[in-house]
Amino acid sequence: MSDARLAVFVSGSGTNMENIARVIESGKLKGCRIQLVLSDQRDAYALKRAEQLKLKTMVIERGEFQNKLEFEAAITQVLQREKIHFIVLAGFMRVLSPEFVKTFRGRILNIHPSLLPRFKGAKAIQDAYESRESKTGVTVHFVDEGVDTGPIILQREVNILPDETLSSLEARIHAVEYELYPEAIQCLVDGRLELKGKRVRIRSLD
Ligand code: GAR
Repeated sequence: MSDARLAVFVSGSGTNMENIARVIESGKLKGCRIQLVLSDQRDAYALKRAEQLKLKTMVIERGEFQNKLEFEAAITQVLQREKIHFIVLAGFMRVLSPEFVKTFRGRILNIHPSLLPRFKGAKAIQDAYESRESKTGVTVHFVDEGVDTGPIILQREVNILPDETLSSLEARIHAVEYELYPEAIQCLVDGRLELKGKRVRIRSLD
């Protein structure tokens, strides 16, 4: 696909979103653009980053709606209006409903800061750090109906060093995220990801 329109969903700092925008700008990630940065938090720093990058932003807060169904209906309406092809979750700390996932199956990516299925959930880096295991990592996966359970696209290991602090581990995990997410998005927009049940096959370049 050429010029795929991405919606990047954020809730927090937005460094992954900014990195994706910069990699697109540099020409290393081709065939797509960030059409929209959507936040479920009005005060997310990601919105400031997006504005500085001159990206279109939108805030849709869960609290504005009676229930999750209406909240997600509002999101879907925006995605349709903006003719979005793919949804890129980048620190979006909300679980999407099975109905939403079904509508966009195979078109929602998430990045998670661990080697899934290890350390699911919202504190994955801290949980890995406190586990005393020797390695953790980063996973990019398709979103399915579960939490951090979707078909895995790419994973990369990060060793937990003997003298590691939580913040040094965080920094090294983020550095890996900034490489892995653009790589996975490139495969997606190039149509190289084949989803077969729980499995993803990455077709090689012709
Ligand atoms: C990233 O480390 C991402 O992997 C993680 O949130 C951080 C967002 O940072 N996502 C999850 O934990 C999802 N379960 P950012 O806002 O600076 O991109």
